[in-house]
Amino acid sequence: MIQGELLSDIIEAVSNTFGNEFLDRLTLKLASTIQADYTFIAIFDKEKYESKTISLVANGVIAENMAYSLKDTPCAQVFDNSVCYYPTEVQKFFPFDQLLIEMKIEGYIGSPLLNSKKEVIGLIVGLFETEIHNKDQILTLFQIFSGRIAAELERSEYESRLEQNNHELESLVEERTSELKQTLDELKERQNQLIESEKMASLGLLSAGIAHEINNPLNFILGGYFGVRGILEGSSLESEKTKLYLEAIKEGVERTSKIVKGLNQFTRSGDSVDERFDLHDILENCLVMLGHSLRERISVEKDFHSQPLVVKGNSGKIHQVFLNILTNAIQAMEGRSGTLTLGVRSTRDSQSAIILISDTGVGIRKEHQNQIRNPFFTTKEPGKGVGLGLPIAYKIIQDHAGSMEMESEWGKGTIFRIKLPLQV
Ligand SMILES: Nc1ncnc2c1ncn2[C@@H]1O[C@H](COP(=O)(O)OP(=O)(O)OP(=O)(O)O)[C@@H](O)[C@H]1O
Ligand SMILES: [Mg+2]
Repeated sequence: MIQGELLSDIIEAVSNTFGNEFLDRLTLKLASTIQADYTFIAIFDKEKYESKTISLVANGVIAENMAYSLKDTPCAQVFDNSVCYYPTEVQKFFPFDQLLIEMKIEGYIGSPLLNSKKEVIGLIVGLFETEIHNKDQILTLFQIFSGRIAAELERSEYESRLEQNNHELESLVEERTSELKQTLDELKERQNQLIESEKMASLGLLSAGIAHEINNPLNFILGGYFGVRGILEGSSLESEKTKLYLEAIKEGVERTSKIVKGLNQFTRSGDSVDERFDLHDILENCLVMLGHSLRERISVEKDFHSQPLVVKGNSGKIHQVFLNILTNAIQAMEGRSGTLTLGVRSTRDSQSAIILISDTGVGIRKEHQNQIRNPFFTTKEPGKGVGLGLPIAYKIIQDHAGSMEMESEWGKGTIFRIKLPLQV
């Protein structure tokens, strides 16, 4: 029989402990109570027909856990759900059990651990180097604690399963969140494209209409000019003054037709992506189109590379890029005094054409510099800007496998550097 004192001593030692701590404390207490040389709690691996210790006490101290095959061992009997007891000479009954031989075991006592479904999940064992005398006490102790051990094992398993479920749930939530974020980003991108194409479509329609309307009267003027010149030539009315006036008309017609040509180029923003064109032509055209807003106020410093800089893509769209950047530059110089300079330079390296557009305008504040690519970011008053020029420009340059960088100093000016792959 077990003394109540002994039992309460064990219970006190393991109270308020869980998991491995509970198992180790219990095994230690059991080992010292039953005075076994080895005491262990193990679980069965049915598939491998193995037993794995989860708490092992050897000669009074916790030892490293181990796994062993159940074949030819007394533990195999416990596996079949029965108490196994050999007070002495256990090696005789299990001559192939190497562990028993190596550990010099004489007495064996093992009892199954059952889960809440009454299935055998493991065992609790005492190994003795000498004969066992207190069988009843040991078995009673094993039986008293086997329920608590099995419950603890089940609890630990549920806990780890819960933890795993939690993990899975967390990663699922993370996955879904990133999917959602990606969808949102795509949606934003689509929206931008839509806005761009709508803006382009209406601008295109408008400028195509204007170009057409202007072309007709231009032809009248040109016809009239040639007619008048024919009449005047060699007549008594011909003088230096009339020649000057006629020249002025011709100059005006030529400039207007250049602008109309520019408008047409601007309109040509269809989907063609394999036009080859010289960036210089595009820049010249933009400058003609913007001539009115430059006036005498702003001096244009043009410095082009000696050779044509031919790139491939959609000329209408590239035209739009330069127009947006040049317009920003001109707007940045509005209302400023001093020398206002718009620099339009071009150069090249081995693979790329490089266009530099600089201004001596207000500059961009540091805190705004990483926002200018965002659609609808504008510092301009309503009606003056909607904040689409640069995002569209960045997108177009990106579509042309190029890059665009900006440097700006508040109060001094800004420079945009556009790089596009050259065609050979
Ligand atoms: N050269 C520049 N100098 C100073 N600020 C500039 C310059 N270029 C762009 N910015 C700043 O970047 C902002 C965004 O430019 P963006 O061209 O995208 O839009 P916007 O000019 O305001 O409007 P939109 O071009 O649609 O008419 C401008 O409002 C301005 O604050
Ligand atoms: Mg703009």
